[in-house]
Amino acid sequence: MCGIMGYVGGDRASGIILNGLTKQEYRGYDSAGIALCCKEGIKSAKIVGRVSGLVKLVENMPQECLEARSGIGHTRWATHGGVTVTNAHPHESADKMVTLVHNGIIENSKEIKADLKAKGIDFTTETDTEAACQLLAYLYDGDALAAMTGLVRSLTGAFALVIMFRDRPDEIWCARKGSPLVTANSGGASYCASDPTALLEFTHDLFFLDEEEMAELKPEGCRFFGFDGARKEKESIFLNWDSIMADKGHYEHFMRKEIEEQPDVLRLTIDTHTVLTSVSMERTLDLPDGLMRRVGHVQFVACGTSHYATLVAQNIMESLDDEVDVRAEVASEYRYRNVRGGDDTLAVFVSQSGETADTLAAARLARSKGTHCIAITNVRGSTIDREVKHTLLSMAGPEIGVAATKTFTGQISLLALLVMQLLKDRGSLSASDEARIIGGMRMLPAHVHSILEREGEIRSLAEKYSASKGFFFIGRRECVPLTMEAALKLKEIAYLPSEAYAAGEMKHGPIAMLDENLTVFAFVPDNDLREKTLSNVEECRARNAPIILLATEGDSKAKDHANDVLYIPRTERELFPFAGVAALQLFAYHVARTLKRDIDMPRNLAKSVTVE
Ligand code: AGP
Repeated sequence: MCGIMGYVGGDRASGIILNGLTKQEYRGYDSAGIALCCKEGIKSAKIVGRVSGLVKLVENMPQECLEARSGIGHTRWATHGGVTVTNAHPHESADKMVTLVHNGIIENSKEIKADLKAKGIDFTTETDTEAACQLLAYLYDGDALAAMTGLVRSLTGAFALVIMFRDRPDEIWCARKGSPLVTANSGGASYCASDPTALLEFTHDLFFLDEEEMAELKPEGCRFFGFDGARKEKESIFLNWDSIMADKGHYEHFMRKEIEEQPDVLRLTIDTHTVLTSVSMERTLDLPDGLMRRVGHVQFVACGTSHYATLVAQNIMESLDDEVDVRAEVASEYRYRNVRGGDDTLAVFVSQSGETADTLAAARLARSKGTHCIAITNVRGSTIDREVKHTLLSMAGPEIGVAATKTFTGQISLLALLVMQLLKDRGSLSASDEARIIGGMRMLPAHVHSILEREGEIRSLAEKYSASKGFFFIGRRECVPLTMEAALKLKEIAYLPSEAYAAGEMKHGPIAMLDENLTVFAFVPDNDLREKTLSNVEECRARNAPIILLATEGDSKAKDHANDVLYIPRTERELFPFAGVAALQLFAYHVARTLKRDIDMPRNLAKSVTVE
């Protein structure tokens, strides 16, 4: 989604803003712009394309703009109006008094535009944002707070707005409803950004704007207000991330770096929440006493990769206790269905970013029904962290690549432990299962490490199959979520058609598509379902589809059924996805690399989806 960076202080604003935009490029965008508070008023530069192009434009701005001490910048992911320089942000009001950038969607922009046009105000862009810009200028009579209050009350939809007034060169104004915005003050300067990683080089003490909150940023500090204009006191949140963690280092792509960080994520998660072979999360979770004895229904709710992580959790939970009704739901559907809720239901909302609009809406719905809620997120201070009382933080560190990798691993390891903690509280987790799974989890960092060591083999396989017209990923039971995640990775970063199917479903339709141009990638761990899955593989082979198997080390007979076999270490049955996912991420990565795709910033995608 769009990215925002704002600065007001004693240094050159242009460099700080461009640097902040670069750090947020991974969010996904198609145009970029900056506005600087120069002596002769506010001057803008905008471009269709990358921030690197914007840097060149800014270099050619007048010296007085390069010396500016305040400014705002934006990377736009088009929603209303085409990808053009005119539609790129910042937008300026007709009277040049207001310049603003916006993330989100203003739903009543047509009505506002019609109203202002009737008052004689001309519009120059196709964007919804310009409605907010012109309206604010119309409302402004020298009192910024009053105008801001009038503006936010008139807008419907979702917005993070960052604003400069021509006659207030030492101030930036912000407003948030539905789209994230974080501010900070440090060393005589104030900052704002969409994403905290853009601010970490200045300070780790951050002020995350709450829903329906505004801020006034000045070099000496930030002040906060409700949408009614009343002052609000606000505590900063310390974000324990290192700015180096958000750095690509010597890696060609963030995604490749983040794949490699997975053994550390596993180790940290397991060490934090277990003692020897026991799960130990009670204190971190702090749920009401006896809750899990009362709850008969558990819902896991998320989007995209986070949803696939919850399917892994669902599988583990039902394999350990068949009396709990456990469902993994897609948040964008959950929020509009008449789902069960109330005191006998526990819902776990999972969002790497903590800002996904559908997941947030689903959590709000569940809370309104009196459902017990837990959130899992990777971002301390994110909206879901602040809105849901019981939050577990995954410990993946900042993830910059648009394709989720290490955060998936962080989520599934945390979810596996959460499932065991909940079943332990319920009295339905046997000590032997607990010790078996935790013992198995402790082996995972080494297993994933050994897969990373086989990257050469995976790369060769990826190069060999990169000309394939498409892929079917098939597997059974615990492998089904992994088929979905593998197919999503390939779609996202290689743009190749890829389907995920429960292996037994192939002959109910999809097998009709198979021929020598479609590759079937089947997951056949050495377990009770191996033979059944191999029968499905043979059915695909008989239709001339090239076959790759993901099999358990030592299963030498697997190669009798396939063109190629990728072996992964033997794990506890439930943990096959934990070990296998690194191999599939590397496969997708190298297919995409062979096809010369933009791996960290795939077309049309955004890292955090803050609109519906
Ligand atoms: C994963 O590779 C994708 N970028 C996407 O599916 C993502 O998992 C989804 O948008 C959910 O994001 P969240 O975890 O931040 O809520």
